[in-house]
Amino acid sequence: MSQLESHVTVQKRAYYSPPWADVSIIAVAGSSGSGKSTLSQTIVKQLNLPWVDSFYKTLTPAQSKLAFANEYDFDSPDAIDFDALINTLRDLKAGKRAEVPVYSFAKHARLEHTTSIYSPHVLVLEGIFALYDPRVRELCDMGIYCDADADTCLSRRIVRDVRERGRDVEGCIKQWFAFVKPNFEKFVEPQRKVADLIVPRGIENRVALDMMVQFIEKKLFEKSTHHREALARLEVRDRDE
Ligand code: CTP
Repeated sequence: MSQLESHVTVQKRAYYSPPWADVSIIAVAGSSGSGKSTLSQTIVKQLNLPWVDSFYKTLTPAQSKLAFANEYDFDSPDAIDFDALINTLRDLKAGKRAEVPVYSFAKHARLEHTTSIYSPHVLVLEGIFALYDPRVRELCDMGIYCDADADTCLSRRIVRDVRERGRDVEGCIKQWFAFVKPNFEKFVEPQRKVADLIVPRGIENRVALDMMVQFIEKKLFEKSTHHREALARLEVRDRDE
């Protein structure tokens, strides 16, 4: 093939976006303890997808001391490394591999190792600020807000933090009233307004869950049909030229 021919092929192929550069991102926001993780994990399991962990910023030794005393504010958007999150989402959208941090809620720190993700078809981004940053929202295809009563959230959080995150009951309650509750009202709840879907009662809501999974599967089917058709068109053109 001459240089000119190969150039023409590249030009023509530029109109085709391969499926690995076509990631759909679903954001799941909502209060701490509202059931976001369980809801997201259920979607992830049903669709067989990779799991993306947390983007909390690395703490200084002084901040870490505050964190262990339940005196550090993890419920302000300042605690999140949005730039790293956005770079990761952009890499995945561009079809590149991304290294995702693995976070330990017991240590208040990122672990040494990362998780490699190779541009999946669908990515579920879950967190209290999943729909907070407009740059993230722009990259998302669907925004879900998980709703639950505050007393349900608090009781779930206490049980979970004591069992799984190495906390004590007094510390949980102190952190809840100092940071989680006021910042929920200030930063988390306003995300209801930018969500596409508000899910009441979280994972207990089987109907909403089934509808979401069906919707995502339908979108994926449409995408794969679109890609197969685009490829078939290219093959026909290549053969005819
Ligand atoms: N958090 C914490 N310690 C850290 C980092 C975060 O206690 N070192 C808490 C913050 O106070 C925040 C919560 O983790 O409220 C956010 O975690 P996220 O996974 O977004 O929410 P969950 O509480 O797990 O929500 P859900 O139960 O709905 O999954």
